[in-house]
Amino acid sequence: MTELRLDGSGVVVTGAGSGIGEGLARGFAARGARVVVNDLDAAAASRVAADVGALALAGDAADPGSVTRLVAAAREHLGEIDLFCANAGVAPMGGVEGKRAATPQGWAAAFDVNVMAHVHAATALLPAWLERGQGRFVSTASAAGLLTMLGSAPYAVSKHAAVAFAEWLRVTYAHRGIVVQTLCPQGVRTPMLEGSGRLGRALLEPDAIDVSVVVDAVVAALADDRFLVLPHPEVAGYLAAKAAGLGAWTAQMNRLQQRLETPRPRP
Ligand SMILES: NC(=O)c1ccc[n+]([C@@H]2O[C@H](COP(=O)([O-])OP(=O)(O)OC[C@H]3O[C@@H](n4cnc5c(N)ncnc54)[C@H](O)[C@@H]3O)[C@@H](O)[C@H]2O)c1
Repeated sequence: MTELRLDGSGVVVTGAGSGIGEGLARGFAARGARVVVNDLDAAAASRVAADVGALALAGDAADPGSVTRLVAAAREHLGEIDLFCANAGVAPMGGVEGKRAATPQGWAAAFDVNVMAHVHAATALLPAWLERGQGRFVSTASAAGLLTMLGSAPYAVSKHAAVAFAEWLRVTYAHRGIVVQTLCPQGVRTPMLEGSGRLGRALLEPDAIDVSVVVDAVVAALADDRFLVLPHPEVAGYLAAKAAGLGAWTAQMNRLQQRLETPRPRP
């Protein structure tokens, strides 16, 4: 079991200008980590970094060149990156037909930011981490990557791919000092949840948690090398039920879809 002590560690968080990433950057800095704040939104990255005495390195976490520059500049600043949180994500809404169909741009963005950003980061990080025999990669996937997401096919599918990539990294490098963990919350009160459409909000808002709960779950997970980081512990039970019978589980999720898509009568 490997522990990462945050005090004095060098940490990079992508998508740290808002929501969960911002919470992680603030929580890590408060525990003594030296933090690099990345976000596509340069003003947001600068604001968070200035607040916590971190370095802001704005850029697109889904662009390979930009990620190479981020990792190089972060290493220059931190000495070495002990923890990389691949957290930036997007949630394009929609399915495959009708007025609510997801667009080709939505599908592409979901795969670029929710999956390929993790691949680009791992590509830039792994050579030096393998040489050093040490490194910790925490990707923010979602419970949608273990279960599904009503109302967004690109999100459900790309988050499954994010979990699959984290699994693959872990299986391939666990014996070489690389710890890979994946964060899979359900609803978290952030701007993303507000923008997740009627179905998404109906599904997620009743059990939504504050960012601070997610930060505490990630900090707790750094004490060991568990794979799944579940700020909603009930997700472990849902996953077990899914594994026990996919037919029954999809039928139950379809009943939930039907219930949520039926407009509620006005009081
Ligand atoms: N909020 C939830 O309910 C919830 C639940 C499960 C998982 N997640 C995941 O948590 C992560 C963070 O989401 P959030 O809720 O904090 O959302 P958010 O919208 O509050 O923050 C996301 C941040 O990522 C940045 N970003 C987007 N694309 C980027 C890119 N290409 N490069 C760099 N930065 C980029 C945005 O500018 C924004 O600041 C995402 O991966 C999301 O899918 C969120």
